[in-house]
Amino acid sequence: MAGSSSKSFATKAVHVARDPKKQHGCVNNGIFQSSTLVFDTYEDFIFADRIYYNKEKLNVRQRTYGRNGTETIFDCEEAIAELYGANYAKMTSCGYSAILVALNAFCYAGAHVLMSDGVYGPTRSLLQKTLARYGVEYTFYHPTISIKELENLIKPNTKVIYMESPSSLTFEVQDVVSIVKLARKYNINTILDNTFFTSYYFKPFEYDVDVIVEACTKYFSGHSDIMAGVVVFNENLSNKIITSYREIGANTTAINAYYVLRGIRTLKVRLDAHKIAVDEVIEAIKGHERITNVLHPSQKTIPGHEFFKKQCTGYTSLFSIVLDKNYSHKVMSKFFNRLQYFGIGYSWGGYESLVIQFPDDLAKMRISSLIGSENTCVRVYIGLEDTKDLIQDLKTSLDLL
Ligand SMILES: Cc1ncc(COP(=O)(O)O)c(C=O)c1O
Repeated sequence: MAGSSSKSFATKAVHVARDPKKQHGCVNNGIFQSSTLVFDTYEDFIFADRIYYNKEKLNVRQRTYGRNGTETIFDCEEAIAELYGANYAKMTSCGYSAILVALNAFCYAGAHVLMSDGVYGPTRSLLQKTLARYGVEYTFYHPTISIKELENLIKPNTKVIYMESPSSLTFEVQDVVSIVKLARKYNINTILDNTFFTSYYFKPFEYDVDVIVEACTKYFSGHSDIMAGVVVFNENLSNKIITSYREIGANTTAINAYYVLRGIRTLKVRLDAHKIAVDEVIEAIKGHERITNVLHPSQKTIPGHEFFKKQCTGYTSLFSIVLDKNYSHKVMSKFFNRLQYFGIGYSWGGYESLVIQFPDDLAKMRISSLIGSENTCVRVYIGLEDTKDLIQDLKTSLDLL
């Protein structure tokens, strides 16, 4: 039931890659959990082998071996590709491995990567520590760098520009459209981590981005119960991405793909609710005397807000608050430990609200002075609780500072 592109997001999300007739009447996709997939005939076996070694045009649904996917995983991949308006998606064990699969597709010893300074911490160390050990060169650029300055950082061996928009923790929005145009001029491939906006609020392929990575651990699955990631791409890069996917071997499981598919069916209503909630919470707390700034794409003060307005149709419910001082851990422990509804924990995109404090050394880790060390910053994730309770909870903790 692959939806046609004229269908609205919600209708597509409900109907894509789902055919009860093929599932013995079950409305939900079947969970096909297997390592071995047997072939109907010898000829099928020979054909699958040729696909595996990229000697035939890619058929991502081709049965080969459990590590390359089973029907449940193929269904979920088809759904995500459709929601992104792309040819293909390949699911991975988590968002981090999706990033590795995407980078590995273009990197080799001596290749140079330009990466936004605002990326998620582990993405940064993947490049700076792991890939660098294999001879990959890199330069970090300020997320809202001018296109002229970014052009100056391009080297003859630059193979990838890696974006994450908005930035992790600090939420600057990147000028994806102009960055992609620049990359095209130099034959450089672009990768974008779109986990924050998801395909509901931002459609990067409409702006010619080459590869999307998204942590399905977050909004796509939506219930904080699984880890999964996805790499989304078009025909032109299918050989490169599939080869990398097979080199890494970070496949997901049928059960996790099932949970992501289930999350996709309700993605629109959840994201609509998160958007209303984040607006209400930010509005209610931003005037608090301990808060000097709120970092979120919706805020006019966020660097790159104009790009958000041009490129995206909405936003999700993760933001940061900048407090008026650099508070000691002792003081912050009062703030965190009193919270009733916000769990202290990593991740986001689930139904429950969460908080974390920025790492103490973030200002030192990043090359650009996005935040100083004179303020304590807290990342807040707004789940699906009643916002009245969340606002009251945050205000009471803020009052303790
Ligand atoms: C923006 C972003 N990308 C990727 C990831 C990695 O996803 P996962 O935790 O599924 O590996 C995260 C995790 O927090 C993230 O915030």
